[in-house]
Amino acid sequence: MKLAIACDHGGFALKEAVKKYLLEQGIEVNDFGCHSRESVDFPDYAKIVGESIVAGQNELGILCCGTGIGMSIAANKITGIRAAVAGDVFSAKATREHNNSNILCLGERVTGEGLALLIIDTWLQAEFLGGRHERRVEAIGELEKHLC
Ligand code: RB5
Repeated sequence: MKLAIACDHGGFALKEAVKKYLLEQGIEVNDFGCHSRESVDFPDYAKIVGESIVAGQNELGILCCGTGIGMSIAANKITGIRAAVAGDVFSAKATREHNNSNILCLGERVTGEGLALLIIDTWLQAEFLGGRHERRVEAIGELEKHLC
């Protein structure tokens, strides 16, 4: 599996830990930065990871910022992206099984490294259940066509 990761300055240490962990699992990781604590704008990183998934260059993505929230708001503006913030394993499992999320967002200032890695394991191992959830995911796709 090819997995895209990125962060802003607020999620840099967690992104580095996530990258090391995934590489140890034998997962192919494409790291889109950032590469230090120097201040950057998280939407730029949500965009590059989201676009790589929509383009089929990566299957899934993980985005780290201070809270995970800014990254998720930004990534969800990209058609075809379903980004979920998870700070617990129940939500991580449910958002794959029910929402078919393709990006997991984590908050370095919220979630400790140990829990974050367990959340990632849970998210990667869970599978979309389809069935009634398929209809709802399709309905989310319809909302992407909504013009105000
Ligand atoms: C950066 O200070 C911080 O706002 C960002 O990492 C993130 O938490 C935004 O949602």
